[in-house]
Amino acid sequence: MLIQKEMKMADVIHHDHFLIPVINRFDIHLGFGDKTIDDLCRENNVNTVFFLTILNAYHDHEYFPKKHLQSFPASLLVTYLIRSHKYYLEVKVPEIEKLINNLSDETGMEEETLTLLKNFFSEYKQELIHHIQREEDRVYPYIVELEKAVNSGIIPDSVTRQMNDYPITDYEAEHENVEEKLFDLKNIIIKYLPDTKDDKPFFKILKELFALENDLNDHARIEDLILVPKVEAMEKTLKSKTK
Ligand SMILES: [Fe+2]
Ligand SMILES: [Fe+2]
Repeated sequence: MLIQKEMKMADVIHHDHFLIPVINRFDIHLGFGDKTIDDLCRENNVNTVFFLTILNAYHDHEYFPKKHLQSFPASLLVTYLIRSHKYYLEVKVPEIEKLINNLSDETGMEEETLTLLKNFFSEYKQELIHHIQREEDRVYPYIVELEKAVNSGIIPDSVTRQMNDYPITDYEAEHENVEEKLFDLKNIIIKYLPDTKDDKPFFKILKELFALENDLNDHARIEDLILVPKVEAMEKTLKSKTK
């Protein structure tokens, strides 16, 4: 199903409730009534084409918004990506951490196994933080500056320098998978969980880990398939101007 602006938001959510946190990142909150996507976007000053692009990218993994790619600024995409980073680091990761920390009381599991899980998760968290920091410190600011240069025709030296030293194709090539550790962590629970008196608390942890993994995969796909081509096009435009 392709999500379109005439659709009622409530119907879209009944169809795919995983979109709720995505919609929330646009500051559009539950209590939609019978409003359509277009109504809600206008009300909340959200660019409708951009909103639909993100929703469809999350909803359908095959979706690729080629013809809409130029209909919204890259800075909008960057703002959205930073908001989702915040959601991972400030909401999801602490939630999962708390679930892991509560395990010893709930399951009476051995301290040794618990420490192993905790260590694994904290290593994963460090990797995720590192990945996000690199994007927010190095990649995203460049994209915002690049877009300003394309729009104004004034090209600062810093943009020219980064365009030559660290073009977006380099980022794309190094856009590593941070999900590998998450996969190992899930496997410890799925394959090697020692006897516990109650394994229900692990259901919840697994559910959260699978959900985080999904969300991060979608996020990375948006970076690779929407952000990178947009930036490549801008770099091309600027290079042709500076020749
Ligand atoms: Fe990111
Ligand atoms: Fe990323």
